[in-house]
Amino acid sequence: MAVPKEVTWLRDPHTAAKHDLLKKYLDAWAPILLSRHEMATYAEGFAGPGVYKAGEPGSPVIAHGVFADALLRHPKHLRMFLMEKDARRVQELRRQMARAQARQTEHVNQRLNIHIDEGEFHPALLERLRTSGALDQPLFVLLDSYGGPDIPYSLLKDLAAHDRVEVMVTFVPGFLMRFAAKHEGRRQQGDIAFGGQDWQAVFKQPSTEKFTFLRDQYRGCLQRAGFTHTLYFEMVDEGGRRLYLIFGTKNDKGLEKMKDAMWNVDPNHGVRYRDPKDPNQQQLDLDWDPDTAALRRILRDHVIDSPEGVTIAELQRFALLETVYRPAQVIRSVRQLRDANAVATDTTRVTGKTLVLPPRDDPPTSSPAEQDGLW
Ligand SMILES: C[S@@+](CC[C@H](N)C(=O)[O-])C[C@H]1O[C@@H](n2cnc3c(N)ncnc32)[C@H](O)[C@@H]1O
Repeated sequence: MAVPKEVTWLRDPHTAAKHDLLKKYLDAWAPILLSRHEMATYAEGFAGPGVYKAGEPGSPVIAHGVFADALLRHPKHLRMFLMEKDARRVQELRRQMARAQARQTEHVNQRLNIHIDEGEFHPALLERLRTSGALDQPLFVLLDSYGGPDIPYSLLKDLAAHDRVEVMVTFVPGFLMRFAAKHEGRRQQGDIAFGGQDWQAVFKQPSTEKFTFLRDQYRGCLQRAGFTHTLYFEMVDEGGRRLYLIFGTKNDKGLEKMKDAMWNVDPNHGVRYRDPKDPNQQQLDLDWDPDTAALRRILRDHVIDSPEGVTIAELQRFALLETVYRPAQVIRSVRQLRDANAVATDTTRVTGKTLVLPPRDDPPTSSPAEQDGLW
């Protein structure tokens, strides 16, 4: 997509998928945090005008709607800090947010504060978050630029220094791949975003590997910055161009909820959205069963490496932290592995927990695991 010049622009299908993902995540994030904390904050560095050309809501309006619902159930406080550089879009955003407020009750509006600032997102957003105390509270930061990369690594580090901060960054490798080999300025932009020059090894990668190389480099960069858990979600637009949403958190629950949201948007693989107009779309398998063959292989290998056995809870945590899969997918996969005699299960007498063990030589008998209610 060319960078739009007008105040509003047409919403692409992949943007709709991004909004779907954001909404699904915030639907989980807001009630969990408000049930435990007095205040949480949502911030955007690239807020946009709050509306698309055909009238669909932009991300700040979507987030506002989710927060208003959560505040009805949890009467706490939420703040929104929204930055936008383009003065015309700021004006439109103010109008859209005022409309969103007008749809809510006094009760919600008193608890949901909106701050809109015009200007360059950096370092102004960080300053805003610092002086308002938001960095020391639960905070979700959406950095949804056109994909630059525009986010300095130093900003990611400053955010990750705080335990309850989470980020979602839009990253478009194509810009770097196309221009950085020839243009010194683009290379420097890359160095600032990645916090070093390792990413430049992309120029030596075979062309089929370049996208995933940069994606993994950028994910690694969030990890180096201090976000212990990262996920990516790939979106392919109508021209076959790839964009990534990269999520970083230090929180197991945040990781789990973001995976849930991703699997909800992509029920087959949990990691991608393709525009139906993308010419390569037909190559995808279109069965509706989640593709968990890889999870089964990973679990089987993990169990074989653990001769003492592993509990279901341990396997679920392993899946959460080490794979793209969700803890909720583990039980079914273990059952399939057991039925194929690829692992064995046993219910320990002392704890009553199911242990998953390397396969026995004899064929599987009845399933003691069913007794502990996990099955
Ligand atoms: C991809 S759009 C944001 C869309 C919005 N997040 C949504 O989903 O509805 C990126 C926005 O960032 C703004 N922008 C670009 N560079 C910026 C900068 N350096 N600082 C702040 N805003 C910027 C653009 O004007 C544009 O409105």
